[in-house]
Amino acid sequence: MPKQILLDHPTIDEADIQGDVLVGLQKAAEIFVFFTIKDAAQFKKDLKQLVPKIATTELTRKYEAAANAKSAGQPFSSADLATVLKINVAFSARGVGKLGLSHAGADPSFEVGMEVGAAQLGDSVGDWATIYRGRKIDGVFMVALWDKNIDHAETEALNAASALLGQFQPSGMAEVGREVGSLNRAEPGHEVFGFADGVSQPAVDGLHKSVADHDQSQPGQDIVALGDFVLGPYDREVGGKATPPQPWMKNGSYLVFRRLRQDVAGFDAYTQKHFKGFADSPDAFAAKMVGRWKDGSPLARDPLRPNPAHDEDHFAENNDFEFGVQKVAQTRCPFNAHIRRVYPRSDVQDGPGSAEQKRILRAGIAFDHTNATGGDQGLLFVCYQSSIVDKFQFIQTFWANADGIPFEPPYVAGLDGTMPDHPGIDLIIGQAAVRGAIWDSNKALQNVPKFVTATGGEYFFSPSIAGLKALAA
Ligand code: HEM
Repeated sequence: MPKQILLDHPTIDEADIQGDVLVGLQKAAEIFVFFTIKDAAQFKKDLKQLVPKIATTELTRKYEAAANAKSAGQPFSSADLATVLKINVAFSARGVGKLGLSHAGADPSFEVGMEVGAAQLGDSVGDWATIYRGRKIDGVFMVALWDKNIDHAETEALNAASALLGQFQPSGMAEVGREVGSLNRAEPGHEVFGFADGVSQPAVDGLHKSVADHDQSQPGQDIVALGDFVLGPYDREVGGKATPPQPWMKNGSYLVFRRLRQDVAGFDAYTQKHFKGFADSPDAFAAKMVGRWKDGSPLARDPLRPNPAHDEDHFAENNDFEFGVQKVAQTRCPFNAHIRRVYPRSDVQDGPGSAEQKRILRAGIAFDHTNATGGDQGLLFVCYQSSIVDKFQFIQTFWANADGIPFEPPYVAGLDGTMPDHPGIDLIIGQAAVRGAIWDSNKALQNVPKFVTATGGEYFFSPSIAGLKALAA
């Protein structure tokens, strides 16, 4: 969408910012080890040894380049292979406090932790696993590993997590619990409902070059100010600079972690039973809830069927759209489709509350613990931003859970019968009690079951390398 032109491109200290923040740790498996700090002095000693092993943005990008070269037919060098295992670490406000550094002035939601605001997000804390309740978590190690063989990646990542814990004295810290994520074995790169994941991600000013336009990297992929993701002080899209409240927080980013259980059988059964009258097939019905077909092609471009020329592999095509106005708006992509709710593009105006101001960098991974006797599956959702309140929390609370947006020009509710007053909540992640939507020709979907349930989560801060050294001092 048209937006301000970014004039002063920031210089990114790639050796200082952790690798997961801007680039994402390329991974086939990722272990999240949540820990509590017992003896701060001992923990600091051990953390000091870990800091040189943390995967930075620089290292992660090198690996990304090597992976691209490999897919172009060039073999990995041993130096590339050394970067295949990637470790990052982040701390809750409680953890930072235990290590004796001030976090005064930090994001208010980070300060109190996710559980305090869970009801506002629409969660029932009763659904949360016990490790996430009662504020037990001081920090998280993220151990990510790439391998073509997902089982092997998972085993190696678990071994690496054990080796990592072995480097910490038990007197200094203890594991509280862990999550094991891996690519969806049935369809790697797709979340467990079957949709291509990671299709749309904002480009970051200073990191990605303009290819398509002065303010876009790929067509339709806006370049977003660094200060929307990292505390500098760096410029944000709206509202001046993202200034670290404490000096040690420079080049750090807030990490939101959510354990989201997905009811795959329920989702499939619902789409099969209810598609008639709304779409031609269960898949088309499901695509309307998401805003993309399972292959990643966007309904805004391909309302009738998936288009292999716009699928997850076609980055120059699969984001090259706006949602359109008036009649085409709902007949192509419903207003409440997941991607339209969480990134409404030009449905909302520029300036405060704009779609660009609410961009987040997603870095999650699927999990699947189902077996013959039960277990659950879903998404270990991770996103990075310079403000939790203005970004993740706003998206979940005021966009996904609400049934009344967008109301900004050029839309006028009820103008031509295609824009209902209340187009409905995000049926994928919306957590409101009344679960419905009104689609094209005012067809009402009512009492839609909840397919995604939050079963835990916490707010963290991912410090820079310099910040980690300060925490370890
Ligand atoms: C289990 C829960 C979720 C599922 C199944 C899911 C699924 C998807 C899918 C299939 C896409 C489109 C492909 C892509 O661009 O990656 C997507 C995009 C996106 N999702 Fe989710 N998601 C989930 C949770 C969340 C949450 C909790 C948030 C934030 C509050 C979120 C924010 C986004 C954003 C910002 C995009 C990109 C939209 C765009 O740029 O067009 N998602 N999601």
